[in-house]
Amino acid sequence: MNEQKIILSGVKPTGRPHIGNYFGAMKQFVDLQNEYRTFVMIADLHALTSVTNAETLRRDTLDVAIDYLAIGLDPDKVTIFKQSDVPTHTELGWIFNCLTTMPFLARAHAFKDAEAKNREVNVGLFTYPLLMAADILLYETDLVPVGQDQKQHVEIARDTAEKFNRTFGEIFKLPEPLILDQVKTVIGLDGQKMSKSYRNTIPLFSEERELKQLLMAIKTDSKGETEAKNPEECNVFALHRLFSIKNLPELKRRYVEGTIGYRESKEILFGNMNRYLAPLRAKRTEIASRPDEVRAVLEKGATVAREVSEAKMAKVREAVGLK
Ligand code: TRP
Repeated sequence: MNEQKIILSGVKPTGRPHIGNYFGAMKQFVDLQNEYRTFVMIADLHALTSVTNAETLRRDTLDVAIDYLAIGLDPDKVTIFKQSDVPTHTELGWIFNCLTTMPFLARAHAFKDAEAKNREVNVGLFTYPLLMAADILLYETDLVPVGQDQKQHVEIARDTAEKFNRTFGEIFKLPEPLILDQVKTVIGLDGQKMSKSYRNTIPLFSEERELKQLLMAIKTDSKGETEAKNPEECNVFALHRLFSIKNLPELKRRYVEGTIGYRESKEILFGNMNRYLAPLRAKRTEIASRPDEVRAVLEKGATVAREVSEAKMAKVREAVGLK
């Protein structure tokens, strides 16, 4: 009765995480791991829809595991695993492929965006949401902590579960997205949403010097030091909201009064951000020096994930007539 709720999320191993990833999704696991039964999956099969270099995929996959351990995920509490280590995901993904219509999937944002940009769309990209639905539904997941951009995918998982249940009987629990309100969108260096595709990101583990360079180059208007400024329209201030919580009222006052220049504001931001990020950076370096331990964590996670998902998969096979 007092059962712990289950959360699961996945992260694609495609390069260095940035501040937007951190506040949008990663940090939530660390906050939630004590409260929920937590699964964190490295979505290497999803990455194959865009990554075509084996070395890159191997390196990025290990890197993601290191990143998550560095931000404080505790492998004794959380099941961290690699998607491709658990074959039930592709198996259930196929069954969902057979249940879902093409027009339904054609409504997915990720697919529509790729089409609109005239990018070559592989079949994996098209059915991406169904593999993701399998990821989620295999674990009796209650909540899926994701950034706003993944909300539609969680809804597709929910719709897919409903359709399966209607067709073959009640097998799947319906999941909900969990989106952190205040930080739905983290603003990037240029004022747009922080995103790799806009090249406006601040890497979470950037070295001190890189961090400083990036912050000093944030785009602002050309108001001078003594001019009144609108904090709501300032890209630097948007980051203060995340990293300068204590000085926020004072900064706001100085913006409005015109007693702070953008340069000083950036320097204060750098100090605060660096204080926040330095321990994460140090921990990451330490963990990265012991890759075998990280691999062992993933193997242990895979063993647990296989066991849990296999129990669900046995019911699915039975329900559809494969057993
Ligand atoms: N599609 C997600 C992303 O691009 C990654 C992902 C794969 C995922 N499977 C998942 C997220 C399951 C949540 C749950 O970020």
